[in-house]
Amino acid sequence: MTVGTGGKQILYNALMATLNPGDEVIIPAPYWVSYPDMVLLAGGTPVVIEAGMDNGYRITPEQLEQAITPRTKWVILNSPSNPTGAGYGADHLRGLADVLLRHPDVWVLADDIYEHLVFDDFRFATIAQVEPALKSRTLTMNGVSKAYAMTGWQIGYGAAPEALIKAMGKLQSQSTSNPCSISQYAALAALTGQQDYIATSRLAFQRRRDLVVAGLNTCPGIICPKPEGRLRLPSIRDLIGKATANGITIENDEIFATELLNETGVAVVFGAAFGLSPHFRISYATSDEVLADAVARIRGFCRSLR
Ligand SMILES: Cc1ncc(COP(=O)(O)O)c(C=O)c1O
Repeated sequence: MTVGTGGKQILYNALMATLNPGDEVIIPAPYWVSYPDMVLLAGGTPVVIEAGMDNGYRITPEQLEQAITPRTKWVILNSPSNPTGAGYGADHLRGLADVLLRHPDVWVLADDIYEHLVFDDFRFATIAQVEPALKSRTLTMNGVSKAYAMTGWQIGYGAAPEALIKAMGKLQSQSTSNPCSISQYAALAALTGQQDYIATSRLAFQRRRDLVVAGLNTCPGIICPKPEGRLRLPSIRDLIGKATANGITIENDEIFATELLNETGVAVVFGAAFGLSPHFRISYATSDEVLADAVARIRGFCRSLR
């Protein structure tokens, strides 16, 4: 087990400690924006496979099998996912684990940072639990930034075979030395204290998610599925090719996001930034009033497109 300055540092240390030039890292898209750059910085080659909306934003065992080559070092699994909120349940992980069992040189990086931010009856699972035989080549990573809203405290942690943990510790001590001890105590208090906060915040986010998903699905041209976790990545494929009242054609999701911001003041992130178009990401970590207003503005914008 190792503690790092944020979950990001844990992931980065693992990649830095293990990648050689030409080594490949499989990244399901849409992905957290940092993954491909982290892999490149660590000297590896990102191999992106698309987990589209029609597949519940999850990669299939067949896709994984096809993407693995003799150069594959890691597969990154982020569940629930940033940016889609899609979660891999134990059954989905089972299928992926069966593929990985056939490839003993491939390691798994399980980014579980959104573990507690799941809704409805989705049950969180992680791959080393579903298939203990993979433990000897899995890094399971988590942190306090999401579940405990402690982003600024920058504490992440990871469990992996000892040799990898030792190598990661060396990198940590030669870069940021150590995670701040005040933050470590704060994280300890969060992890060992009363956990009611998580259920309360989950319910608040579930209510906001329902509000946003229902609202977005009334916007002409937007399709917003309801995945298991907190974030959202609605599709705008039916809006591509339409034009704004100012005569600007929505050729892609970047133009959609720019024009939405210009005309309505609502800021969203376009899907290409996460490796999946034409989509956009919306964050709903704000009040119900602000969200209802934002959705009404998005609806007005969609209606104005011709
Ligand atoms: C998917 C994912 N993993 C890891 C992190 C890193 O979290 P931190 O470095 O704040 O602990 C983030 C932060 O946004 C994230 O979205």
